[in-house]
Amino acid sequence: MIELRDLSYVRMGTRDLDGAETYAKEILGFQPIRRDNGQLYLRTSYRDHSVCYFEGDPGDHAVGIELKDWYGLDDAMAYLNGQGIACTRGTAEEIADRHVMDMAWFSDPTGNRIELVTRPEDANRRYFPTRDAGVTGLGHIGLNTTDPPRDETFWVTHFNIKVSDWIGTSPLLRMKNVHHQIALFPTDHPGVQHINHQVESIDDVMRSWYFLQERQVKIVFGPGRHITSGGYFLYFEGHDGMVFEYSNSDRNIIDDDGAYRPRQFPFADASLCGWGAVPDIPEFQS
Ligand SMILES: [Fe+2]
Repeated sequence: MIELRDLSYVRMGTRDLDGAETYAKEILGFQPIRRDNGQLYLRTSYRDHSVCYFEGDPGDHAVGIELKDWYGLDDAMAYLNGQGIACTRGTAEEIADRHVMDMAWFSDPTGNRIELVTRPEDANRRYFPTRDAGVTGLGHIGLNTTDPPRDETFWVTHFNIKVSDWIGTSPLLRMKNVHHQIALFPTDHPGVQHINHQVESIDDVMRSWYFLQERQVKIVFGPGRHITSGGYFLYFEGHDGMVFEYSNSDRNIIDDDGAYRPRQFPFADASLCGWGAVPDIPEFQS
């Protein structure tokens, strides 16, 4: 089994790097820190970056996850290849592009590209947001799945990943003591389904709601409150149609004795929002 530490970054192709940068600066409040080799790096926390756009197909996504063991990449590769899961070391250029010490990648059963990284760079200057959205860093991702039970088994078998709750067959998965970091949502193709950043408080969620409405950004869900994580949330449409979420989720799961029981909720609007908000997001619609 492979021990994962934390989500590190999301990479997305785009045909319009300038548009991605404008949206990041003016709407998200992310800090563009670098533009080189056809890539745009966005900072949102103590990490060098949490989002990177590269010139390419907007449907081409990758998720970077940090290994717990700083020297464990060879062992992780050997384990996965031994399990019949092809795991390939990154090229020198790929490693440099990601600002990590080392990297290898594999595809999950749906075909999502997952990159295992060691020693991702920390920011050597603090995050200085381009607007005061209250962002504290990358929280979680929604990840497409063509078969939720199959992909859940994949993650919990090969990694230190646990189910926190289910909504229908969609598992909310964690690798550390927050409620969830990867949520699998059924659809017919691979890709990142939404990108969550945490904000400091519910006030930041509501401030963004007014801010985004003023700028006619399409709100696709919320403001509302997840009954699973307890998170106050707002989902809105971003560059290339990617759904971004700002939320403040303070429900952690400390399960040192293994006694935590994941809860099963029906796949219904009321399972996604305790306040009654109805999602305008295809993968969330019951
Ligand atoms: Fe979310």
